[in-house]
Amino acid sequence: MGKEEIISLLNKALELEHSAHIQYLSHAEIVEGENAEPIIARLKEIAGDELKHQEKFRALIGALGGVPSMNTAPTASAKTITEILDANLKDEKMAVDVYRKIMDKISKDKSKYYDFLLEHEIRHILMEEQEHITELELLLGKSGSSY
Ligand SMILES: [Fe+2]
Ligand SMILES: [Fe+2]
Repeated sequence: MGKEEIISLLNKALELEHSAHIQYLSHAEIVEGENAEPIIARLKEIAGDELKHQEKFRALIGALGGVPSMNTAPTASAKTITEILDANLKDEKMAVDVYRKIMDKISKDKSKYYDFLLEHEIRHILMEEQEHITELELLLGKSGSSY
C-alpha cells in the first residue's frame, strides 16, 4: 500500500473525528430533562476524546508528509435523548469499522519497514471508540449488546 493511500485513509478518519466532535457538542446542548446532567457531562467528555483523536490523526498525516483534511463527514441530527444516543452509537460503530479496515490494510502491508507506531496509535484510538460504544450502550440500557 502506498503512502498516498494511507494518507487518504487517515484523512477519512480525521473527517469522522471532526464530525464526531461537533456532533457530541451540539447534542450536549439539546439534551433536556431530569436525567440530563450526567448525559451532558458524558457527551462532552467523549467530545474531548474525539478532539484528541483528531490531533493524533493530524500528526500521523503530517508525519507522512500529507495535508490534514479540514472537511467533516456528514453529521446526524437528533432531538430526544434516545435519538442522540442511538445516532452517536451508530457513528461510533461506523468509526470502528473504518479504523479496523485501516488496521487490516496496514497489517497486510509488511513488505519493508512496518509502521508499528501507526498501528499502535490507531489501535489505541480503536480502544477508546470501543469504550465510547460501551458508555453509550450503558446510557441506552443496552449494555453489551454489541457482542
Ligand atoms: Fe474518535
Ligand atoms: Fe468515539
